[in-house]
Amino acid sequence: MNIDWKSLGFHYTETDTIVRCEYHNGAWSEPVVTTDKTVQMHLSATCLQYGQQAFEGLKAFRGADGRVRIFRMEENARRMARSAEALCMAPVPVELFCRCILLAYEHNRDWLPPYETGATLYFRPLLIGITPRLGVGPARDFLFAVIPSPIGPYYPVGFHGTPFIINRNVDRAAPLGTGQWKVGGNYAASFRATEAAHRQGLSCIFLDAKEKRYIDECGAANFFGIRRDGDLVTYVTPHSSSILPSITNNSLMTLAAELGMRVERRHIPVEELTEFTECGACGTAAVISPISRVIDPDNARIYEFGDQPGPVSTQLYNALLDIQYGRTADTHGWCRVVE
Ligand code: PLP
Ligand code: COI
Repeated sequence: MNIDWKSLGFHYTETDTIVRCEYHNGAWSEPVVTTDKTVQMHLSATCLQYGQQAFEGLKAFRGADGRVRIFRMEENARRMARSAEALCMAPVPVELFCRCILLAYEHNRDWLPPYETGATLYFRPLLIGITPRLGVGPARDFLFAVIPSPIGPYYPVGFHGTPFIINRNVDRAAPLGTGQWKVGGNYAASFRATEAAHRQGLSCIFLDAKEKRYIDECGAANFFGIRRDGDLVTYVTPHSSSILPSITNNSLMTLAAELGMRVERRHIPVEELTEFTECGACGTAAVISPISRVIDPDNARIYEFGDQPGPVSTQLYNALLDIQYGRTADTHGWCRVVE
């Protein structure tokens, strides 16, 4: 295998096999491992016509001790079940979801990047409605697949400051819409804003759709800010019904509390950016991506945080990666050791 692991970006690299199973007549089939990464379906399938689709993202890490760990797989399984229920799809049982991930790993272990390359083996679970329908309504038949791919950092600079811009002209999700679930439509709805940001060499921050006052999240990652009040360090992250409950953010909140920080989950008005000493985007793909500046074009303001990662972001980043790479005890039982 001739891959320059260190220069991998967040792009699809085809591996040997994928895993798939189907739901018909009220039951899931046994998973099949196959080299066929295509699907033949009717053009009237509900996923194509009405966007009945949900997905996930999780990673396997080659550790410092040579062992392989998958991070919080059951949490992704549970979140996908919630997304499925939200879109009237048959949920994939947690046990079946995890079995498919493990099969995808076992049959593609050669694609796991070596330790210290910055790359990991990413799994993309995908659930789609495949019943042909023109009437507006949910499918009765579903396809679940797990697509593995080695990947590098989501934001090209990795653990280094990335500039963001606030977009008030596009809502990625409404307060009682689908933002809290990981469904494809949220991402398609964000493309107009994220592409406009990319054309300026920036990434996008979305505000709450109702008031446009509070930070919601980044296009593919949650947001956090760090406050310092004397000796007290506070990890602040948005409370919102239109953001995805990030498993990484949940882990960071736990680690921040263990490191003696106060943790606040609440509305974050845009102006509070002046009070943060650091802020970042966090997620499976983003890990922690420190934010170097936030441009607020409507108010002609730029909030500066610097290109270098701040000390608290660095501490949290190390604490998380130490667990994922097996450099410290996994006291929360977050990792499934698979090799
Ligand atoms: N927010 C959005 C919109 C995402 O797509 C993701 C990625 O999954 C996240 C946040 C981060 O979630 P997690 O940490 O579970 O990957
Ligand atoms: C992830 O962090 O796993 C994601 O799915 C975010 C993005 C690549 C869609």
